[in-house]
Amino acid sequence: MVAIEGMDRMARHMGISDEKISEAHILVTEAIINAFEHSGQKRPRVRVEFELTQEKLIIFVRDYGKGFEPDSIEEPDIKKKLTAESKRGWGLKLMKSMSDDFLIESNENGTKITIIKNLV
Ligand SMILES: Nc1ncnc2c1ncn2[C@@H]1O[C@H](COP(=O)(O)OP(=O)(O)OP(=O)(O)O)[C@@H](O)[C@H]1O
Ligand SMILES: [Mg+2]
Repeated sequence: MVAIEGMDRMARHMGISDEKISEAHILVTEAIINAFEHSGQKRPRVRVEFELTQEKLIIFVRDYGKGFEPDSIEEPDIKKKLTAESKRGWGLKLMKSMSDDFLIESNENGTKITIIKNLV
C-alpha cells in the first residue's frame, strides 16, 4: 500500500492519466503479492522501485526468496480452470498482458520482476 501510494503521487504529479495509474496499480499489486506469497522468505522483504518519465513507467519488484523457474509455470487456460480445483495462476499472465514489456530474473537468491508500461 505504501509503495502504491508513492507511485500514485509521482504519477499524478506528472499528469499521468487515471486510466494508466489504475493499470499500474494492478501490475504493482500482483507483483508484490507474488513476492510475499511465493518467495518463501523467513523474514519477508520486498524491494519496490519505480522509474517514471512522461513516456514510460518502469516498476521493479525484488524479493530475496527461493526463486523459481518461469519456464516451468504452465500458462493458465480458462477452459481447464473452470473445472480445476485451483482457479489461481493468473497473475503472471495478467502482468504480461497488461504491460508493454515484462521480464523475470530469478535464481536461488531471489526474484526480480521488471515491468515496463508505456504512457504515450
Ligand atoms: N516471486 C516469486 N517467487 C517464487 N515463485 C514465484 C514468484 N512469483 C511467481 N511464482 C511462481 O509462479 C506461479 C504463478 O504465479 P501467478 O501470479 O501467475 O499465480 P498465483 O500467484 O499462483 O495465483 P494468482 O496470481 O492468480 O492469485 C506461482 O504459483 C509461483 O509458483
Ligand atoms: Mg500471483
